[in-house]
Amino acid sequence: MNPGDVRTAGVVGCGIMGSGIVEVCAKAGMRVVFVEATDQLVSRGQGAVERSMAKAVERGKLAESSRDEALGRITGSTSFEDLAEADLVIEAVTEDPGAKRDVFHKLDELTRSEVILASNTSSIPIVELASVTKRPDKVVGMHFFNPPPVMPLLEVVRALTTSDETVEFARGMGDRLGKTTVLSRDRAGFIVNYLLVPYLNFAAQMYEEGFASAEDIDTAIKLGLSHPMGPLTLLDFIGIDTAVHVAEVLYEEFKEPLFAPPAILKRMVSAGWLGRKSGRGFYEYDR
Ligand code: CAA
Repeated sequence: MNPGDVRTAGVVGCGIMGSGIVEVCAKAGMRVVFVEATDQLVSRGQGAVERSMAKAVERGKLAESSRDEALGRITGSTSFEDLAEADLVIEAVTEDPGAKRDVFHKLDELTRSEVILASNTSSIPIVELASVTKRPDKVVGMHFFNPPPVMPLLEVVRALTTSDETVEFARGMGDRLGKTTVLSRDRAGFIVNYLLVPYLNFAAQMYEEGFASAEDIDTAIKLGLSHPMGPLTLLDFIGIDTAVHVAEVLYEEFKEPLFAPPAILKRMVSAGWLGRKSGRGFYEYDR
């Protein structure tokens, strides 16, 4: 199948990343069916998409009529069976290998055998998900960046088992979604997180050692390197628990000390200081 022939995209999980992927696919003209575990999570996911699109309209990035059409193409469900008609499925559930393997097993049973199954994972080997299916050549990584409607990059990840056709399809789908794609091998961190994690770890250590204040570390990077956010603001934005998890996965794979999550991040997780989502991280936030 060509990316242009995809009429219905399935998305599993409608949290921060899943809801952004739902929005991006709907805006690209596809019907989107997303699956969440409970009715409450379906409503929460739908609400997240609506708020993000309202922001896009407010900022002049999306016409109201296009917003209404895109929202009209989205259906939320608690039933995997509703993905049976999907021409492509992108999985974006929590970074738990067991949960992801279950999803891929179900998707393999339920979808047509030619359908490509993609994962938005940032840390789990794609081959591990491919291996629970009877179509390992059609399993690929499609790693979006937070927030997916705004960030222009898509990392396409080729597992040992992924076919050239599947890689080509994923890159074409990235074009259709308005993203620039880069291709990475199936190594922990892919391209971006491999470089990002040591940088964030060092920033947290600098702060802990009293090298400079959080505000000054962030201001230095924002103004000195023209990054949209300094590293400690970015850690709060990603979520301290997620940052620790991704760092642990990289450390596990490469055994390089620069990937090991610094103690301060682990202590913050224990304290429940998870960043923006919990109202406190390196900074405090209104919730
Ligand atoms: N829909 C469409 N466009 C939107 C939007 C929305 N919902 N929200 C914001 N935008 C647009 C704005 O209109 C603006 O566009 P222009 O530059 O063309 O004017 C642009 O996004 C930036 O907006 P603002 O400058 O007003 O700032 P903001 O606070 O709204 O932006 C942000 C927030 C986009 C997140 C920005 O701060 C940013 O880019 N931060 C860095 C994010 C980042 O690094 N993400 C990667 C995280 S790592 C990751 O995801 C990988 C992993 O596996 C851990």
